[in-house]
Order: sequence, then C-alpha cells, then structure tokens
Amino acid sequence: MGRALAQYQRTLVSRNSKYDRVQRGEASYTEAEALGRAIFFDFGDDPQGPYAGLPKGECAHCHTPPHFTNQRYENNGLDEATDLTAFRDPGRGAITGQPYDNGRFRTPALRNVGLTAPYMHDGRFVTLEQVVEHYDSGGKYAENRSANIRPLGLDDTQKAALVAFLHTLTDSSFVYGAGPPVRYELK
Ligand code: HEC
Repeated sequence: MGRALAQYQRTLVSRNSKYDRVQRGEASYTEAEALGRAIFFDFGDDPQGPYAGLPKGECAHCHTPPHFTNQRYENNGLDEATDLTAFRDPGRGAITGQPYDNGRFRTPALRNVGLTAPYMHDGRFVTLEQVVEHYDSGGKYAENRSANIRPLGLDDTQKAALVAFLHTLTDSSFVYGAGPPVRYELK
C-alpha cells in the first residue's frame, strides 16, 4: 500500500503554473503579480533595483522555490504562548518531545495554494487575503517565533499584489488535466 501510494505521488508533478511559464520565458507577469513577487522575494533589499525600498515579505526564507517550502518546521506566529509549554497545539513538539519544537509546523509547499483553502494546520484562514493579513500583522508572540515573522507594513495594493503572485502558483493543467477526469474503480 505504501509503495503504491508513493509511486502514484511521484506522478503528481506540477510544472505548468504561470510562475513556471514565466521562469521558462513563455509568459510574463501582470504589474500586480510582478509587485507581489518582488515582495515575496524581498527585492526591496537591492538599493539599485527597481523595487528599492519596497517592504519585504520575507516569505521565501521559508517558502523556498522550486516547491516553495524549506522542508523545515517553523513557528509562523499563529498562536500566542507566554512560554514554550503554553501552546494550544504543540505541533512538531508532540513528535520530538523538544519544548523548542512546540508551536512549530511543517512549512507547506505553496504550489496550487489558490485551490487548497482553508489554510494552516487547523484551517483557521479561509482566504489568501486572511493569510496575508496574518503575515502583515507580524503574528503573535512566542519565544520561538521565527525572526522572519514581523510586522511588514504592507499597504492594500501591496497585499493584493502578494495574493496575485500566490495565484500564479496555480497549475490548472495539473489539476484538471488535458481531458475528462479519469475514473478509478476499486475492485
Ligand atoms: C518562518 C517561516 C515562514 C515565513 C517567513 C512565511 N511562512 Fe507561510 N507558512 C509557514 C508555516 C510553518 C506554515 C504552516 C503553518 C501551519 O500549518 O499551521 C505556513 C503556511 C502558509 C500558507 C498556508 C498554506 C496552506 O496550505 O495551508 C500560506 C498561503 C503562506 N504560508 C504564505 C506565506 C506568505 C505569502 C509569506 C510571506 C508574507 C509567508 N508565508 C511567510 C512558514 C512561513
């Protein structure tokens, strides 16, 4: 059963999102998508660049291409905890028994994230707009909250742009396929 699942999962390769097509030089971003990408990847860092001074989203530290995950467990500021034993859901800490892992969750890949609401381990956010509001706020205090989770100072245009960029990770050819849906029958 495990091998069959693993083999099936290896067939699920998404590489035709707008993000991928732009990477291959086959498409170009709208103005909003380009702005969102600049926030996601901290282009504001480059003092000579076209986005100098743009607020940084810090997203790619954790959501790192190509899969948009760093494959680590992080505290992205979802729950306040006065000390490391005070998390409602210990997350990774329940597995490792290490207090510093409490409140940490696996960084999810973001490919097709526009299609996979609701968000976070407990589905607390229904829209990507709510997710972006969360990150813009800097999240809630805990000793092990990542330093990359801090108030971002995005304005409404910048928040909408970040959402527009996240939608470029949607690969509809992957989700809907080329033809009608295949029906699998259990025998
Ligand atoms: C410190 C690492 C870190 C940073 C920085 C970070 N994230 Fe996340 N992100 C996470 C983790 C961990 C989760 C999953 C938390 C959970 O499961 O409760 C997550 C979840 C998400 C989700 C929900 C995915 C899903 O399928 O539920 C989205 C969307 C997202 N992040 C977008 C962003 C954006 C946009 C930024 C930048 C503004 C960002 N993240 C910055 C670690 C990070």
